[in-house]
Amino acid sequence: MTTPVLSARGMVKTFGRVVGLDGVDLDLYPGEVLAIIGDNGAGKSTLIKCLTGALVPDTGQMFIDGQPVHFKRPQDALDAGIETVYQTLAVAPALDIASNLYLGRERRRPGFLGSALRMIDKKGMRRDAGKALADLGIGTLQNMAQPVETLSGGQRQAISVARAATFGSKIIVLDEPTAALGVKESNQVLKMIREVRSRGLPVILISHNMPHVFEVADRIHIQRLGRCAGVVTPQTHTMSEAVAIMTGATTLADTPGH
Ligand SMILES: Nc1ncnc2c1ncn2[C@@H]1O[C@H](COP(=O)(O)OP(=O)(O)O)[C@@H](O)[C@H]1O
Ligand SMILES: [Mg+2]
Repeated sequence: MTTPVLSARGMVKTFGRVVGLDGVDLDLYPGEVLAIIGDNGAGKSTLIKCLTGALVPDTGQMFIDGQPVHFKRPQDALDAGIETVYQTLAVAPALDIASNLYLGRERRRPGFLGSALRMIDKKGMRRDAGKALADLGIGTLQNMAQPVETLSGGQRQAISVARAATFGSKIIVLDEPTAALGVKESNQVLKMIREVRSRGLPVILISHNMPHVFEVADRIHIQRLGRCAGVVTPQTHTMSEAVAIMTGATTLADTPGH
């Protein structure tokens, strides 16, 4: 049997009297796109925040490649190769595209200029940023020196995904990447997700856009009222069946799929 790249067992997270997660299990297998769907407040963001060190669960266990891990801060997950694009995009609007791609990981000039004078390799970063975006099929961003504040929402999202794809060595997590985007921009992000998967990197995609989910997901984890109501696939379940399980109109037991 294949060992999951990431697995979580019994994740519980409360906020005072509010239960965000009520004992959730999750498995992510090599090379798959795992979608997480659920109504507002179902615990999707809380779940991925716990998986990526942005929140520490009250109880629960996590394993990477079968080995127990304990993330106490986002840096711990980053160190483990997990890159996350949160719902609230973290971009620096005044900085250019290349600087945003390398934010916090700026490359130094080779030799003395970089090591002693700490000079940043702007030219190299711009060249490689252009290549990273082109490799992901983003042809519309040509000038890496363009400030991010001048870009559309979709282009900013593309840069955030590209950043994750460039530095993520293990898992990419995307929280609602197409929520604020038009049709064309959404398609571009979906294309990037497929490109990331074809590189062998598994992706966790949080979305409540069913057509998008059914287009790219290999499996779909359905989150409902802080719990996992079931895991389905686009082959076994229709969109309306998945939504019915998500809203509680039916259960996985009553709708086992075909
Ligand atoms: N920081 C927080 N403080 C208090 N309650 C929170 C906090 N974050 C999430 N919650 C609550 O936890 C539940 C799950 O929220 P969330 O994970 O954001 O849901 P989703 O992303 O599926 O919309 C909701 O009831 C939400 O109000
Ligand atoms: Mg959310």
